[in-house]
Amino acid sequence: MARITASAYTSHIPAIGAALDLGKTHEPYWQPVFRGYEFSRQWLKDHRPDVIFLVFNDHATAFSLDMIPTFAIGTAAEFQPADEGWGPRPVPKVIGHPELASHIAQSVIQQDFDLTIVNKMDVDHGLTVPLSLMCGAQDPVNGAWPCPVIPFAVNVVQYPVPSGQRCFNLGQAIRRAVESFDADLNVQIWGTGGMSHQLQGPRAGLINKEFDSAFLDQLIAEPAALAKKPHIDYVREAGSEGIELVMWLIARGAMTDVAGGKPPHVAHRFYHVPASNTAVGHLILENS
Ligand code: DHB
Ligand code: FE
Repeated sequence: MARITASAYTSHIPAIGAALDLGKTHEPYWQPVFRGYEFSRQWLKDHRPDVIFLVFNDHATAFSLDMIPTFAIGTAAEFQPADEGWGPRPVPKVIGHPELASHIAQSVIQQDFDLTIVNKMDVDHGLTVPLSLMCGAQDPVNGAWPCPVIPFAVNVVQYPVPSGQRCFNLGQAIRRAVESFDADLNVQIWGTGGMSHQLQGPRAGLINKEFDSAFLDQLIAEPAALAKKPHIDYVREAGSEGIELVMWLIARGAMTDVAGGKPPHVAHRFYHVPASNTAVGHLILENS
């Protein structure tokens, strides 16, 4: 049987991708950001998964106002890095896992979540920056990401967005789906986006350290209570793009303590302000 062994959470700031791709990681501005991921890169080597189920949001790259799926699962064999206006990032293509993705789609839809099945999708910084942060810079020609990735896109860009509660419940359904896959696979689930930030309007530049710190505390210790936080609280307190944080509740809902197991082990916690226009938050939780 497949099982989820750990969850990881990280911001996805596009300027981090540019800093990596342009060799700026040692500049004083970026040094403290990348230092926070040194542990994680070694951890990923030591805890190499067979598959990463990567919860992210598309930023009007693969989708647009023409079509707005709330939850979309990538079932393709591969996904190309998207051209977000400056050319695609020079990173390897993402190899999918069609068998596991199709099984999860079947199981989660039968558990009453309406997923959109996506057989063709380019992936933007929402997915490639978390991979770069956790895996390090990759040579686009000779390099490859360490394992297949199932992209799972959540609409947090165009209202209406899903609630934290629905995301948390969905994570539980994803755990059950993974555990009913008949192959011995080590699966990690990653929740990405956040932390507090607002890119637009009169409050552009908003960062709320107190909110972020309380969110991390609660995500670790009281995720079921955190799931009850209404979407409007994210927008008011963490900024209009702070709503990306509901995606972290999908990954958290997939951990075994939510189904009556032991609390997870906090392998790593990191927080830094600023990076571009946002606060960087990062956690690694291992199932006990
Ligand atoms: C920034 C952050 C985001 O989450 C995003 O999608 C785009 C830009 C920023 O901080 O600049
Ligand atoms: Fe974003």
